[in-house]
Amino acid sequence: MMQDKLLIGQTLGFAGNPFEAGVDAARHDSRGGVLIRGGKIAETGPAEALLAAYPQAQVTDYGEGLIMAGFIDPHVHYPQTGIIASWGKRLIDWLNSYTFPEEMRFGDPAYAAEVAGRYLDLTLAHGTTTVASYCTIHPESVDAFFTAAQARGQRVVAGKTCMDRDTAPEGLRDSAQSAYDDSKALLEKWHGVDRLSYAITPRFSPTSTPEQLSALGALWAENPDCLMQTHLSEQTDEIAWVKSLYPEARDYLDTYEAFGLLGAGGLYGHAIHLEEREKGRLKEVDASLIHCPTSNTFIGSGLFDMAGLMAAGHRIGLATDTGGGSSFSMLRTMAAAYEIGQLRHNPIHPAQLLWLATAGSARSLRMEDKIGNLAPGMEADLVVLDLQSTADIAQRAVRADDIWEAVFPTIMMGDDRAVTATWVAGNQTQGPASVITQ
Ligand code: GUN
Ligand code: ZN
Repeated sequence: MMQDKLLIGQTLGFAGNPFEAGVDAARHDSRGGVLIRGGKIAETGPAEALLAAYPQAQVTDYGEGLIMAGFIDPHVHYPQTGIIASWGKRLIDWLNSYTFPEEMRFGDPAYAAEVAGRYLDLTLAHGTTTVASYCTIHPESVDAFFTAAQARGQRVVAGKTCMDRDTAPEGLRDSAQSAYDDSKALLEKWHGVDRLSYAITPRFSPTSTPEQLSALGALWAENPDCLMQTHLSEQTDEIAWVKSLYPEARDYLDTYEAFGLLGAGGLYGHAIHLEEREKGRLKEVDASLIHCPTSNTFIGSGLFDMAGLMAAGHRIGLATDTGGGSSFSMLRTMAAAYEIGQLRHNPIHPAQLLWLATAGSARSLRMEDKIGNLAPGMEADLVVLDLQSTADIAQRAVRADDIWEAVFPTIMMGDDRAVTATWVAGNQTQGPASVITQ
């Protein structure tokens, strides 16, 4: 039998959604422990009690390090890793100038494998253990990503990005039929294998024909336990473009709804400029809205209405949108969400930010029973944060009166230097092995 592992440090989990239940939904222990058995969390509790109860366990004492669920990033484009932080364009120009030329390279399996591995290693170094990624139109890009995630033992979601309209460039188009056939074959090959899940992935309605959206809607109906990911209402000029391409549609969401692409298990990236009907329907079907704040400021898209949409009961995740987003870090992403909240006169509490980056994003992927929290039965995907990782953060954190004041400087100013260790399925994948004390 594999030896139990016991991690000691400050621990943070959630008994509920702090947007609904307030900060009391958080469970913080200044000297807590997490017992790992067989890749899952077997028990959490006070450190001393766990140390006494499990004397045979291999102990890693992180001291004042903050142990929490690994970060979950429910909207990324791993193929855009190499073009992150590209200057000066808004959405449609940015796609044409930087994104599409780079995505054309992913028909080469060796290049796709190299970027997939690099992307997952970068994000693990930032404490992110699960992502939901767009790939490219090439099935090879999906194989490369799932293969790299499988080798690292990670729970990930991914899908072949489908584009068949002449709005996408030559060389980066499939067809309605090939999108259906390729997506189906990939889904059958990967969905449910180890910790991998397939998401049906029409890029967004401007780059698909109605025939393709309809074919993918049919595929989703045939495979309702798959997620479906796409983009919705990111920029105003994009919305005007959608209306010109789909003159019959009542609104942007209707271009998905009309073809069977609205439902629970639908992940709608950005969702900034929503009309009342769209909000009503998204709530009714309990779809997931994915907030991508560094992308929304970087590409100049707009200010997501976190407070309003949360109060209305929407299911919301928090994501980087790499490489439209300007960072791989969920810490930087929480900071940007806070800043956008401030611009809307709604300061988001650190407990709410940390919940969004873990349990909230898990909920957006409908995986809250498996990942995103410190609780018995959850998979042992963890991050350990150093709340004094740099001199500027430390000089602020030492004045803190409680955990929220102690963690907020790391949220606002932290990066991968704040990540002491990342654990995937009960194994430490990042960070110094030397902290093991017993
Ligand atoms: N809309 C359609 N494709 C994309 C993309 O790759 N990034 C962003 N930010 N928006 C999109
Ligand atoms: Zn995106």
